[in-house]
Amino acid sequence: MEMQNKHFIIHTYGCQMNVHDSEILAGMLVQMGYTPTADEEEADIILINTCTIRDKAEQKIFGKIGTLRRIKEQNPDLIIGICGCMSQQEEVAKKIKVNFPHVDLLFGTHNVHQLPEMIKKILMNNERVFEVWEKEGEVVEGLPQHRNEGISAWVTITLGCNNFCTYCIVPYVRGRERSRKPGDIIKEVQELAKQGFKEITLLGQNVNSYGKDFDTPYDFADLLSELDKIDGIQRIRYTTSHPRDFTDKLIEVIAQSKRVCNHFHLPVQAGSNKVLKAMNRGYTREQYLELVQKIESKFPEYSITTDLIVGFPGETEEDFQQTLDLVKKVRYDSAFTFAYSPRSGTPAAKMENQVSKEEKSSRLTRLIELQNEISKEKNLSLVGKVYPILVEGRSKTNKDYLSGRTTTNKLVNFPAPKDVDLTGQIVPVRIIQAQTWSLIGELESEE
Ligand code: SAH
Ligand code: SF4
Ligand code: F3S
Repeated sequence: MEMQNKHFIIHTYGCQMNVHDSEILAGMLVQMGYTPTADEEEADIILINTCTIRDKAEQKIFGKIGTLRRIKEQNPDLIIGICGCMSQQEEVAKKIKVNFPHVDLLFGTHNVHQLPEMIKKILMNNERVFEVWEKEGEVVEGLPQHRNEGISAWVTITLGCNNFCTYCIVPYVRGRERSRKPGDIIKEVQELAKQGFKEITLLGQNVNSYGKDFDTPYDFADLLSELDKIDGIQRIRYTTSHPRDFTDKLIEVIAQSKRVCNHFHLPVQAGSNKVLKAMNRGYTREQYLELVQKIESKFPEYSITTDLIVGFPGETEEDFQQTLDLVKKVRYDSAFTFAYSPRSGTPAAKMENQVSKEEKSSRLTRLIELQNEISKEKNLSLVGKVYPILVEGRSKTNKDYLSGRTTTNKLVNFPAPKDVDLTGQIVPVRIIQAQTWSLIGELESEE
């Protein structure tokens, strides 16, 4: 057919939801006969899967879309498509339509599954297609997926978000929370195990609210305990957990499980109760610390990571000190840290007393300094110990090393001769050196 020898590229920005959506987009393109390429000049379709979580992300993507103009001039048959969370906003979609005439296709997060039809429409009618569904439909099952290479697979369990944290755009661009049926998820994971995947990461904006939309009671803990029984999968991870919904039952199930990892990613966002309330997070600093305490008492060894925002509207120096204090109390293994970025249409963007740019950046620097110190100290405390490492492949930066992770999600590099391929295996590695972001180890002989 005409699709033979046709190539595509997808550039993906943003979170794992987008990474996984891109795997589905790629799956549909492969099914249509397109082949992936890394070379934009060779591509017949270039898709940009966008993120709008912060202004910086959006500016970077607008820059990228601009640079594609030249490639389109060289190859007028090229189809340039924009999708993902930016497209889902009316004013952004309009801006792209008017200011970027070289863009042929734009669709939102709710009509990803329509990609083949939309491409056919462009090819047949030689017209631009702009199609954004305002509302989410039913969960679409059975879409083809072209997964990224590796031993680890993403598995969506919920779509959308109902939390409406006041700073956050996600509920507006991803729609209401919908859970996939347990049966569909279990079947998918069994299939992944058969294909040789060793690790799965369950995806949702708030995995802890999984199943709240079902008629019969079935929750995230129930799902985890069923997935834990699937042989072949060695490690189960999940992201993201909302601290408000992390139940005792869930802690119990994770503690009893064989494969669910002892890594807790619990985004706290801020350390002051006043700010947490204004963010609509639904927990206090005390409740959060109590949850950390429960985990601490249940798991002899674990890691804890978080997301933090500085400079939310109305955050004073005193409030910020409370964030620093909380970080010192919890002692996170690592943290994603952000300066608050107003997103149009969210309640926080309209709040008065926005914090100045300079103040935000000063707080961010101070927070990162503190966190880096703690990360390094925590990593140093692992030196000398031996951990089971699930090997992911050769290190990206030094081919003399293999790379893998501990169950606590620490990246460990260790030297291995070029002809030794341990990818997909779990091997004991002794930690010999600690850095802020990763560890260096050596393979432990197994006698
Ligand atoms: N659903 C997940 C992830 C949401 S986005 C969760 O609730 O944790 C990832 C992170 O981006 C958030 O945890 C938050 O720390 C940050 N973020 C979201 N909106 C932001 C904004 N407007 N400005 C700065 N950071 C933001
Ligand atoms: Fe955004 Fe809050 Fe939903 Fe996370 S839980 S996606 S921060 S609204
Ligand atoms: Fe970005 Fe959308 Fe994820 S806004 S962070 S890609 S849900």
